[in-house]
Order: sequence, then structure tokens, then C-alpha cells
Amino acid sequence: MKSGRPNLDSSLISSELASRNCTWINLVVLETVTSTNDLAMKHLESAPGKLVVVCADEQTQGRGRLQRDWASPKGAGIALSIGCSLSTFGKTQTTIPLLTGVAVITALNNLGVQAKLKWPNDLIFLSDSGQVKKFGGILLQRAGDQVVLGIGINVGLSAEELPTESSTSLFLEGFEVSREKLIAEIISQLEIITSDNPASWRARYLEQCATVGSTVRVTLADGSHLEGLATQLAESGGLVVEVDDVAVEVTVGDIEHLRHK
Ligand code: BTN
Repeated sequence: MKSGRPNLDSSLISSELASRNCTWINLVVLETVTSTNDLAMKHLESAPGKLVVVCADEQTQGRGRLQRDWASPKGAGIALSIGCSLSTFGKTQTTIPLLTGVAVITALNNLGVQAKLKWPNDLIFLSDSGQVKKFGGILLQRAGDQVVLGIGINVGLSAEELPTESSTSLFLEGFEVSREKLIAEIISQLEIITSDNPASWRARYLEQCATVGSTVRVTLADGSHLEGLATQLAESGGLVVEVDDVAVEVTVGDIEHLRHK
């Protein structure tokens, strides 16, 4: 413990996994790493297809979506990466990022935290007026048929530690959650959802996603923008946005909610 915050207790995570009958128990818990995604990927290079769960108290080079940095102050969050073979996801491979979001929101709900997804898989709180505050996200990396699901959650971050004005943490929203329990619950929900049928998780995604039904502004990969009503989730996992009566499918982009449903 360096920061005054306790380190992750690996034996507690293991016992929480055991109490949930998880089989994803190849667990590595570290104090400081560059990025848990890097470590999980390295593990897969030496043991392809062998599932690994890596978590750390601190990341020095945490990465987010769209080439952004991800802040992981020591002992204040969850930095968790699951490395596995693509085949773990059976027929649902194209929608792994969405599936992961559903598993994480379900895990949070099970621990008393009512949160939502912003397409594709930002973990957010939504105020009554529709204001979005992000407290977590998911970064997927793929190398051939190996995949790493990286999950970052601001658990105990103080206001000074937040990276942007529109971010928050579970603590700042009034939730006290054990990091060990949340890690185990996420792994358990991921394990369950990979054996679910695609139709059932899709319905859950739509329930949990605050973006479909909202008016959005999308920044596309080339920097251009479009605005319209997000009407649907495409089969592929893309977001369908009605722009001047034309349905446009967005596959990669940064979403801003303008008006909430
Ligand atoms: C996002 O931009 O919303 C995705 C953030 C993902 C952060 C997590 S923390 C664990 C894993 N390791 C990383 O370097 N990134 C992911």
C-alpha cells in the first residue's frame, strides 16, 4: 500500500470467484503495470488460447478507446483484462465489445449500482436531465484469433483525480463497492454471457443502452460529424442514426448525447 489505499487482495478475488462457481480462475494480480491489456496479450503470445485474468492496482500507460490515455491512479480503480481465444465467444464474435458492456453493467447492477451504457460500451451515469457522466470503459484488442477485453472502472477516484469534467467515479456518485467483489462479479457475468444466446444479450443491451432513442452527435474516425436520432442497434453491433431521414450505420465513432429519449 503506497497511496494510502489498500492493494487488491488476490485471495479475496479468488474466493469470490469460487463462491460464484467461476471457471475463469487463472488470475494474475499485480501492483503496477504499464497496461493490463499488454500483459494479457503477452500471456496469450506464450500460451495461445489459455484464458488469463490480469488486474492491477495501477497502470502507468493505461489506454482508452480512440487512442486516448486511461488514468488508473493507484488503488483507486479497476484495471482488468481478460485474455482468451476468440472462440470463447462462439457466434457472437462481431459484437464482443457490446457483450462485454452488458456483462459489466449486469455485474454493477448485481452490486447495487444502477448504471447505463453509452454506445458502444462507455459505462455511464445519466442524470434526470440527460447529462452523461462516464466512470468506466472497455478496450478490446485483437491479434489473430486471440482477444483481450480490457475493462477500466473509476471506483474510488476523488474529484481531483478525474481525467475530464464529464467523468466521475462510483465513490463520487455515492457507491461504496469492493473492487475484489466487482472484479469477481464481472468475470462471472462474462463467463455466463459467453454461453448465452445472442438474441437474449441483444435485448439486454438495448435495455441498458442510453444511446438508442437519444439525439446524438457523432464524431467519425475522419473527424467529420453527423447528427441525428439513434434509432437502432444493427445486427453487426453498429449504431443506426437517422440523419435527414436516411439511416446511417456508425461502426466507429465518438458519441455525444444531445437530447435524451
Ligand atoms: C475507454 O476509452 O472508454 C476504454 C478504457 C479502457 C481502460 C482499460 S483499464 C484495463 C485495460 N488496460 C488498458 O490499458 N486499458 C483497459
